[in-house]
Amino acid sequence: MQLYKTKIQGTGKYHPDKVLTNDELSKMVDTSDEWITQRTGIKERRISDLEKEEYPSGMAERAARQAIENAGWTVDDVECILFATTIPDMMLPNTASQLQARLGITNQCACLDINAACTGWLYGFQMANSLIQTGVYKKILLVGTEMASGFNNWQDRSTCVLFGDGSGVTALEATDADGDSFVIDSIMGSDSSKRMALAMPNGAAMSPITHEILDNREQYITMDGQVVFKSAVKTMASHCATLLERNNMTLDDIDWFIPHQANLRIIETVGKLLKFPSERVITNVQKYANTSSATIPTAMHEAIADGRIKRGQTIMLAAFGAGLTSGAAILQF
Ligand code: ACO
Repeated sequence: MQLYKTKIQGTGKYHPDKVLTNDELSKMVDTSDEWITQRTGIKERRISDLEKEEYPSGMAERAARQAIENAGWTVDDVECILFATTIPDMMLPNTASQLQARLGITNQCACLDINAACTGWLYGFQMANSLIQTGVYKKILLVGTEMASGFNNWQDRSTCVLFGDGSGVTALEATDADGDSFVIDSIMGSDSSKRMALAMPNGAAMSPITHEILDNREQYITMDGQVVFKSAVKTMASHCATLLERNNMTLDDIDWFIPHQANLRIIETVGKLLKFPSERVITNVQKYANTSSATIPTAMHEAIADGRIKRGQTIMLAAFGAGLTSGAAILQF
């Protein structure tokens, strides 16, 4: 049963003002601009300031107001908020409800958080598409927001150089107009056999915070970078190839590829495996580092705002993250 198609009606983004460059980071840990640039392509990242309310709901509010305005909605048009984030504002209530309150939505819209790490926004996109296609909701606010600076161990050079803070919000709307935007196909998946390759094992139900955990600085993210790298490249490339094949499409049918922005080397390797022309790959990891669930919606917003992405064009998306979750989608914008 497909009553409606999903249209990206508006987008918005927010990044904190505070810039942390590779050179500044190299004064905090034993690293260098050269190492970070060569291994990741990252030059700088943005860091939240709690005094400026740059925690997940605070950043998302700024991006959401822009997306709502671009979509031509009012806040009370929103029927559902899907909020992808790895670290919420609080354990309870969920961050979607926090955002509902901050936006001043009075209509009791549905509020749900999604934790699929860096794949969160893409998982949310596929869930929102199903809700819209079946007529459950007509207007959904899909949020990807991360305050990665909260899970970074600023003494661990192998992880702290990789992440940054930011928010991307997408206003999704039902349409049944001929020739209008729609989602062509999508895939979600997870390989839990590698789930501990990217983890924050302490601080929740299985292992509540203790003085010992804090003393040993074990409350932060841990990562086996090479396992994540190999899996990311393999799954993103294979999901894209599957989507293209089962929809009888070739790379010529895709105008733009927006992969999750974790690392330029991962993006380039996926591009090479797919033989996708690099000039049609959208990146912003150089400026913001890996903002996890926020990377795809912020990169998409920037490319729409500067006129690269135009109505009627076909866009391919792919992501991976802790879990190890992964996904891909092809849509007509
Ligand atoms: N600066 C300088 N040296 C460093 C740094 C650093 N910041 N970090 C590690 N090194 C050193 C290591 O200690 C090691 O030294 P050694 O050879 O003396 O032991 C050397 O550099 C090589 O380390 P590797 O880990 O082998 O480096 P690699 O080439 O694999 O690159 C990287 C590391 C960039 C992390 C890579 O593995 C990667 O990009 N992996 C994917 C990570 C990722 O994308 N994570 C996010 C997932 S998305 C999500 O859901 C959150």
